[in-house]
Parts: sequence; structure tokens; C-alpha cells
Amino acid sequence: MEKITVRASQTYDVLIGGGLLADAGRYAAGVLKSRRTMIVSDDNVFSLYGETLKKSLENAGFEVSEFVFPHGEQSKSHETLLRVYDALAKNNITRADSLFALGGGVTGDLAGFAAASFLRGIDYVQVPTSLLAQIDSSVGGKTAVDIPAGKNLVGAFKQPKLVISDTDTLSTLPEDFFDDGMGEAVKYGMIWSEKLFELIASGNIKEHLEEMITECVDIKRQVVETDENDKGLRMILNFGHTLGHSIEKTQNFSGLSHGKAVAVGMYLITRAAEKHGLITENIGGRLRDCLEANGLPYSVDIPAEMLFENSVNDKKRFSDDINIILCKTVGKADIVKMPVNEYHRLITG
Ligand code: GLY
Repeated sequence: MEKITVRASQTYDVLIGGGLLADAGRYAAGVLKSRRTMIVSDDNVFSLYGETLKKSLENAGFEVSEFVFPHGEQSKSHETLLRVYDALAKNNITRADSLFALGGGVTGDLAGFAAASFLRGIDYVQVPTSLLAQIDSSVGGKTAVDIPAGKNLVGAFKQPKLVISDTDTLSTLPEDFFDDGMGEAVKYGMIWSEKLFELIASGNIKEHLEEMITECVDIKRQVVETDENDKGLRMILNFGHTLGHSIEKTQNFSGLSHGKAVAVGMYLITRAAEKHGLITENIGGRLRDCLEANGLPYSVDIPAEMLFENSVNDKKRFSDDINIILCKTVGKADIVKMPVNEYHRLITG
């Protein structure tokens, strides 16, 4: 088992390894004040891993209730959130108690936000079961739900008490979801570590999964410890995301999945930057080879003008300038602030 300690506004461990779910109760008992908790999970994940987690918690002396919701992004809504609150209240969860987020990114974000807001904040433990959640979303304390105006627009920063990443759960992850996580893994290589990038580019990552997850989490740790509230360095985690979100939005969130859209977004922004002389090395070629080696896309049939439009309407933009993340070399990212008209030329020119 690997252990990474994140020292943010709250210090917590991220445990990574096979078979951890069965010992989750023991690990959690060491960091939680009370022995009453509720598991929040979707129907797919709960049917696979809910009982194992529950039994492990009960064996460690926890009184456990559960709230199971239908899987899918549409559940990351305020309607489901209200149902989570109701379940927490019905099960007598107090400020001393906690909840467990068992599942992928949707579950982590939804349950995390419930933990951030119920009774003005209760403890929670992340138990990520998707690759994307294990390498990225379970660490760093970003929680949110979607509203009709956009994804993740209502949320809070709330660090978990513990993250338990049982890599065995990835064995039941559908290939498409695995590839989705790989899009974000490539991002970590691009923005921070050429060594990680090369490991992923080798194309046989399944033999090095634990190493890759640990490396991604350690990069995220360093970023979050420096800029927990996303005011500076943490923005580099958005490499590929401005165009990636635009692709998802243009396709009404029913085309490329998030990680694959990010893969295309990374490639398109890198190629555009090369074309406009902002990058001199052949980064685009290396990135394309790496994406291809991992079965990830690097192009999409959407006009550049539309990609631009849907990326600048991002509700999280602060002004007439836009922050673009560029990797001028593999393993290092820069935050480049530019006026929107310059960004327009970059994307469409
Ligand atoms: N997933 C990006 C972040 O945590 O900031």
C-alpha cells in the first residue's frame, strides 16, 4: 500500500493499493470521531462494493446507514442533494458523525458537497472506485453539484478526512471509463512530470497502475498544498479543460466523456499554440503519440468558431481576459493570461 499525506487546511492520508476496501473500517476508525456514518453511493457501485464497505465499517464498530441513488451525471443535481440531506437527517447523522462517498467522480462531488453543507459541515471519507476519481477528483476537496446553467456551478472546498483508493475496484470499471481516467492521467504527465508522461506513453499502463495513480496523487498533493483555493497554481490542473468543456457542451454532454474531451482539448490548444509560435518544441506530436498509445482521441468534428464560443461562455471566467494553460515542454505548465480576442485568434486563426 502507498500512503500520501496531503497537508492542506486539513491534513489527511490518501491510501492507494489493492484490497483496501475490506480494511476501510479499520483505517477510518483511526481518523473519525464517532462510530455513526452513512454510505452515499450509486446503484452500480453499491451493488458491487457497498456490502464489503459496510461490513468492514461494522466490523470496526460503526453503525452504518446508506443512501443509494441512480448512477450518472444527471444525479449530480440539487434534487439528489436534497435527498442525501433527508437521508442524513433520517439516519440521525449529527455534526460528530460522517459520511462515506463510495464511487466515481459524481458520487465524490455530490456526497462531498453534502458533507460540506449538511449541519454546516460534517466529516467525510472518499472511497473512489473509478480511475478518474482515484487520480484526481477524490483528492483536493473540490465538491459540487450541477445546476441548469452549467456543471459544477454550486459547490464548496471541503477536504476529506481520508481517501481510500482500492485499486482492485478498477477491475470492474468498463474500458470506456478507464480510458476516461487516462485522459486526466496524461494531463498530469504533461503539466508536471515527463517521467510520468513517458510511463503512460509506453502504452502498457495497466502493468503500472498503482505507480501511476500514486504519482498523479502526489502531483495533486503538491498543487493543492500550494494553492488549495484555486487562485493560482491549481489552475494548471485545467490544462485541456477550457476546450474540453467546450467540446462537452457543444455535444450536449452526450458525446465525448470528460477525460476524452480533455484529451482532445490538450491536443488542440497545444497545436494552436505551436502554430502561433507560443511553443517551439514539437510537444503536439509527442502528445498525439501518447494519446494514441492509450486509445484516446485527439480530434473532434466541431468548427473552431463554435469551440471558441462555447469555451468563452464559461461561467467561471473572471473578466475579459482568459487564462490558458500551455505546456511549452512536457512536464511543465504555464498559466497564460490573454485578452479574449487574442484567444479567438489562437483558436480560430
Ligand atoms: N480537478 C481539478 C482540481 O481539483 O482542481
